[in-house]
Amino acid sequence: MIKPHGSDTLNPRFVYDPERHHELVREAETLPSLLLNSAAAANAVMLGGGYFNPLSGYMNRDDALSVAREMRTQAGLFWPVPIVNLTRDADAIGSARRIALRDPNVEGHPVLAVMDVEAVERLPRAELEEIAREVFRTLDPAHPGVATFLSLGDTLLSGPIEVLNFSYFQTDFPDTFRTAVEIRNEIAERGWERVVAFQTRNPMHRAHEELCRMAMERLGADGLVIHMLLGKLKKGDIPAPVRDACIRKMVELYFPKNSVMVTGYGFDMLYAGPREAVLHAVFRQNMGATHLIVGRDHAGVGDYYGAFDAQEIFDKEVPKGALEIEIFKADHTAWSKKLGRVVMMREAPDHTPEDFILLSGTKVREMLSQGIAPPPEFTRPEVAQILMDYYRSQAGA
Ligand code: ADX
Repeated sequence: MIKPHGSDTLNPRFVYDPERHHELVREAETLPSLLLNSAAAANAVMLGGGYFNPLSGYMNRDDALSVAREMRTQAGLFWPVPIVNLTRDADAIGSARRIALRDPNVEGHPVLAVMDVEAVERLPRAELEEIAREVFRTLDPAHPGVATFLSLGDTLLSGPIEVLNFSYFQTDFPDTFRTAVEIRNEIAERGWERVVAFQTRNPMHRAHEELCRMAMERLGADGLVIHMLLGKLKKGDIPAPVRDACIRKMVELYFPKNSVMVTGYGFDMLYAGPREAVLHAVFRQNMGATHLIVGRDHAGVGDYYGAFDAQEIFDKEVPKGALEIEIFKADHTAWSKKLGRVVMMREAPDHTPEDFILLSGTKVREMLSQGIAPPPEFTRPEVAQILMDYYRSQAGA
């Protein structure tokens, strides 16, 4: 099986030992506590599940800057996006060296993790902006990832954490949320060796479905892990339970039994395009995938990134050997009216744009909200039905 990133075995930061867990829960009640922001909480959930192996906690200023600038920690570990705990509220913990981290996304703010605070550093605005510019390739406040990052605060708390639960993900998505540990175990149980991971934050349309099928066929894969984002998205994106239902329906009806695992992870979308694609590759390697599909405008938003920047970064900026997982680079896929199937556009050089069924996200949303199903060549009817029901419930809300 493919090795995790940066170590021979996976070292999740969740505390699996029941006694130690009990002890920490008790200790946490006596510690000064910090209410996390959602980004830092999502980092804790990812660290807990082993997705951010081999990191043990939040990065300090030197590491955050070095990762932003060169995709390496000071110790030389390849890593694409700073994993930080930025706060506006460091006064709350005074000079404590051990603190409880509270969950902003669960009622009553229960303790999510216990942290050893190794450093408390104030970052000048120029450094925060430098990090944002490196990671997002823009400082435009209209970029949702930039806006979130620059609103988190300027005080960086760094150090290792021990994670006590998986926030709302395990309770809200019991069938879908999985840790990297669980996915690795299931891949091993199924005996899969070549495993394709599909990142998604959308319901899957035919283009996505066929993309997965093409990747599986061309790579001779044993199985596909659809790995959907379950955390926070920007306004207007479709909520996770609806996406989950669409994806499950599509898999049930259109994929051979036992060829697909439908799973999800607890992280907020960064919309960091290329850098996020590399982070995606790191944590898919950690969960045991040998390949990650990277298609058109992967993890992008608006027109901040070129359609294939997220593929290019793997050739231009990821050093050879830095990752073991490989990228399946997909061209724009769409239904060809001429051929009567979904194709990669570059593989149909004789086609003109009119030969494809191309609908913008805006157009599709408009149709669905009016109760009009997109053509079956674009969206499976059973998936369209779930989406139309969702839009109808929204209109009535
Ligand atoms: S993402 O933010 O998670 O990347 P989305 O769920 O839309 O968004 O995409 C999931 C994956 O499918 C990404 O790798 C993306 O590049 C790819 N993809 C989506 N639509 C297409 C398409 N029409 N052609 C090629 N790749 C696509």
